[in-house]
Amino acid sequence: MSARILVTGGSQGIGQALVNRLLQHGHQVVATTRHPEKQLPQTRLTWAALDLESRQSIDSFCGHRLWDTPFDAVVNNAGFGLIAPIESADDSDIRAQFEANFFATMHLTQHAMAHFRKHTKGGTLMVNTSIGGRMAFPYFGYYNASKHALEAAYESLWYESANSNIHIKIIEPGFTQTQFATQGMRHSGAAHPNHREALNRLATAMKTGQTASNPDVVAAKMEQALFDGSRRLRYAAGKHAGTLLFLRKVLPDAWFQALIKKAVLST
Ligand SMILES: NC(=O)c1ccc[n+]([C@@H]2O[C@H](COP(=O)([O-])OP(=O)(O)OC[C@H]3O[C@@H](n4cnc5c(N)ncnc54)[C@H](OP(=O)(O)O)[C@@H]3O)[C@@H](O)[C@H]2O)c1
Repeated sequence: MSARILVTGGSQGIGQALVNRLLQHGHQVVATTRHPEKQLPQTRLTWAALDLESRQSIDSFCGHRLWDTPFDAVVNNAGFGLIAPIESADDSDIRAQFEANFFATMHLTQHAMAHFRKHTKGGTLMVNTSIGGRMAFPYFGYYNASKHALEAAYESLWYESANSNIHIKIIEPGFTQTQFATQGMRHSGAAHPNHREALNRLATAMKTGQTASNPDVVAAKMEQALFDGSRRLRYAAGKHAGTLLFLRKVLPDAWFQALIKKAVLST
């Protein structure tokens, strides 16, 4: 059966892979981007403008007529990553990270909840966090913190929606080969010399993306979660994601930290 689904950040990467899958399987999709003028028209796909860092854009998007027709699912996928040492990231960059990844996403979450309540048949509300929403990596601290905040809010929302026909879903991808490492990642602040080498190594490793999953693998997991009809909250997605989440759960902190330190910081 065809569903009507909203995907934020559908222009590239994981969002684009999900949009393509949903279209292939006969669904109606509304996708967002900051640059709808760059998108080509496609059957069953509507583009809408949304900039998570602009209150005016968010208000205009939430007031758009596209919300007059019921959505079966809303996928909060859009976001970006800040790569910076905790000690020297600029305050404005930290705030922009939380503005986009957390505050704007939660504003859309509240809007989608009101939408599902109004249209009584309910729906599925999904957020794309990261394995970095359940653990932290060096130099991704502010990004990870924004995703931890989303994890907590969506876990609360899961309890609060238990007596409704609204299903809450969290997708936790591992490292995925998208434009995230090249365009979607922002650097901030002047790094202390102690950090420069590690930051350069990390940036190179991310661009090479040897351990990264194909975005379609993550999109397939998202599609499965959208349509499985279950109350399950969390889904690991992509290579190594399930293993890392499992190790985070079972290993003592010191062991897990030693593992991440070796994997990310060792020369
Ligand atoms: N790649 C990974 O390794 C990875 C791992 C775990 C989780 N994730 C999460 O997956 C989601 C998608 O990331 P991706 O890897 O597909 O990255 P991507 O290739 O950079 O795509 C990001 C998408 O989000 C949109 N976007 C970015 N900043 C935005 C903003 N300020 N306002 C509105 N839209 C914005 C972009 O749309 P426009 O540029 O067209 O506006 C684009 O469609 C993100 O939430 C990311 O945190 C990624």
